[in-house]
Amino acid sequence: MLQIPSRIPILFTDDIIVMPGSSSVIKVDRSRDLNLVKYVIAHTTSLRSCIIGTIPRTLPMEKPKHPIGTAVIIMQISGMDEPPSKYMLLVHGLCRISVERITQNTPYVVAQVTQIGKWPFEPDDNIPNDGDLPLLSSKLRQSAIQLVNALDVNKEVLIHLKTLLKKLPDHALPDLLASMLHMRKDKKMEMLNCLDALERIQRIYPLIMERIENVKLVKIKKDLAGSFPNGNKIGKKDLQILNEEGLIKDDKLIMTPKRDHDSLADGLECLEKKLKSVGLPPNVSKVAMRELQRLKKMPSALPEHSVLLNYLELLTDLPWCISTTDTLDLQKAKEDLDKDHHSMEILKKRVLEYLAVQKLKHRGANIGGLILCFVGPPGVGKTSIGRSIAKTLGRKFHRISLGGVCDQSDIRGHRRTYIGSMPGRIISGLKSVGANNPVFLLDEVDKLGKGLQGDPGAALLEVLDAEQNHSFVDHYLNVPFDLSNILFIATANITSTIPSALLDRMEILEVPGYTEEEKITICKKHLWPKQLDVHGLHNINNGAKPDISEEAIKKVVKMYTREAGVRELDRKLASICRAVAVQATSNSQAPLVDIGVDDLPTILGPQKFDRTDLLILSKPGVAAGLAWTKTGGELMYVEASCMDRGQMDESSIGKIILTGQLGDVMKESAQLAVSWVRSNVKKTDLKGPKLSNSDIHLHFPAGAVGKDGPSAGITIATALVSLLSGKLVRSDIAMTGEITLQGRVLPVGGIKEKVLAAHRAGINKVLLPAQNRRDVITELPHDVCEAMDIQYVGSIEEVLENAFLDEVRIPIQCEALMNNSSKL
Ligand SMILES: Nc1ncnc2c1ncn2[C@@H]1O[C@H](COP(=O)(O)OP(=O)(O)OP(=O)(O)O)[C@@H](O)[C@H]1O
Ligand SMILES: [Mg+2]
Repeated sequence: MLQIPSRIPILFTDDIIVMPGSSSVIKVDRSRDLNLVKYVIAHTTSLRSCIIGTIPRTLPMEKPKHPIGTAVIIMQISGMDEPPSKYMLLVHGLCRISVERITQNTPYVVAQVTQIGKWPFEPDDNIPNDGDLPLLSSKLRQSAIQLVNALDVNKEVLIHLKTLLKKLPDHALPDLLASMLHMRKDKKMEMLNCLDALERIQRIYPLIMERIENVKLVKIKKDLAGSFPNGNKIGKKDLQILNEEGLIKDDKLIMTPKRDHDSLADGLECLEKKLKSVGLPPNVSKVAMRELQRLKKMPSALPEHSVLLNYLELLTDLPWCISTTDTLDLQKAKEDLDKDHHSMEILKKRVLEYLAVQKLKHRGANIGGLILCFVGPPGVGKTSIGRSIAKTLGRKFHRISLGGVCDQSDIRGHRRTYIGSMPGRIISGLKSVGANNPVFLLDEVDKLGKGLQGDPGAALLEVLDAEQNHSFVDHYLNVPFDLSNILFIATANITSTIPSALLDRMEILEVPGYTEEEKITICKKHLWPKQLDVHGLHNINNGAKPDISEEAIKKVVKMYTREAGVRELDRKLASICRAVAVQATSNSQAPLVDIGVDDLPTILGPQKFDRTDLLILSKPGVAAGLAWTKTGGELMYVEASCMDRGQMDESSIGKIILTGQLGDVMKESAQLAVSWVRSNVKKTDLKGPKLSNSDIHLHFPAGAVGKDGPSAGITIATALVSLLSGKLVRSDIAMTGEITLQGRVLPVGGIKEKVLAAHRAGINKVLLPAQNRRDVITELPHDVCEAMDIQYVGSIEEVLENAFLDEVRIPIQCEALMNNSSKL
């Protein structure tokens, strides 16, 4: 007798129940089962170790309630080892087993098992050869052969099946038949659990008979379908069968219920109607009809069928000729924009201009391909004004976040040949808004990545170019779609990382940071009411609304936040609202309705900023500059020091040491400043060589933050002169400007941010290049201009005149240099 090993590895199966005597394919993708394949089966050398047990998975998974399974032999393994690992095992059932106990759980399950019954082709002596069993068994065998005969199968398969059925011992016949029939999982489990051969036959016999009847019925229906439409008469015999089957009522044929493929055909008809009605352009319609014909001929079981169906459904879903009507009331648009956002005048003006032009053009026509790009520090409302513009225009709005996108298929879609291919974000966006003239907000264009799968920036070029985007071809869609009616708005923190070709196609609108006053107004008008709403605080104490005093807002702005935008401020307001909510819901405390300055420390903790940025300059060699970063303006100190190199060769020149993570432009600017100071020391005929004898160290705190740009030129020169002259730079002054070798001061960018940063830090005098006067007039709010003492400088001499506590002129400075020259 063939015997299986007493301890075998166990594989739990989900949908497959392997019956003894039949073959099945088992999918293996759970980690423990994968271990079994990896450790045991893949390395096996003997036939014996190819035998494992399969147990239908029942809950709880690790302890099958059902101790009966099937011992199987593995005949073939296919699959891959790389994550995600997955194998397919072709197994053949040998006999039933009962699981006595699980002896090992990791890395795979091993159990002690007992074999039940014989292998399929071994005669079982325990089965009696008289009585009911042989009789029933032969009846079953005949019926099974009858069923196989009735099946519409190939001749060779038929012969093979019949021989198998004739040869198989009585005890194995029902198991084989159970594996051949389509049975529900629970019924199959019952068959596996059934250990008595007679009972198994009794269970399967009615199923086989039922199946024979079904096959008969299908045949009759097929014949009838062929004969009735032609007006052929039904024979007497057929009528009799039809009567028996209950298919005739009142001498009329009862229509057979719709089968699957009928409903599929209906679906395709519906799809065709839709394709004809959505207004596809002629070239697209041609492609759609061709694909539809292909779909109709394709068997629905093919995976390509669903791919093609999805594609055609996308064609019907896209807004080929659906557009929303613009609301072109300029006055109302202005009011709407003002209502949602305080300040941002330049931006609102530009949007209103767009609307005005739209109004002048004849109705229905659009200004195609306009791309506005809002650039500014975080939290200044770039994204949210984009949303407001869509609302104002009465258009649909869709935001596409481009941050971190590094695959061009994200924009342009995958070709349909890929499994799981999808259209790109532009086409999906159009599908979701359902109109062809929405406002698309391309958020964070400056954070586009560049990966191995192509450059998404380059893909965006086609989308944004007014010359090309009327026939944008998405890879998935593969037919052109007109994007020229879309109003594209892009947002970015900085322009330097936006691909230059892309930048060229956009109209840049700067959204600068806010002044303290602007922040206070935004807070009162927008953020505080919004937070009350979000926290459900509109009605806490008999209709009373919590209020926050202007002083308190001012303190939050000044002492708890330091930012160009209002996001942190918004978060602080949210914390205050939460504290109010807690008090309002507790019974022991009176609700907090008026929030004042005194409540802030208990709610927000100790103040975070204490004007510590502002240093009282007590040593020579330090000057305050103004820097522009992508998070807004910042106050930046420059520190200079000189180190004597001892006795040196007269001709040798001291080194310039630069620290503080400087970019190339900034390094050059530092060298320029040093050279100017050196050349001017020489010009006045002082101990120049001694200056050359020293190493000059320039440091720009904070050392961990990268800095670049030429605008620190005059600050560096001032710090050096201060060091050499021993005079202190005024603590209440900050400056910005590029320096030339001749000592001229050139204009720089980011003036509004820089002046605001000085204002925030409590500095009230700033030195700006004379040519930046225009920016101050156009960009800076009036109140800031009033509060600040702005001096315009054209040369470094003018800078030095303003920067020192005591008047320092070049000759005086040189005198001082002489006094200090021993230090150098
Ligand atoms: N001028 C304003 N008036 C009213 N609310 C504003 C204004 N500016 C910003 N906000 C509010 O500040 C919050 C942050 O704005 P938003 O998310 O649009 O910033 P962003 O400029 O897109 O920043 P990021 O560059 O980080 O994406 C929003 O809730 C917005 O409503
Ligand atoms: Mg944003």
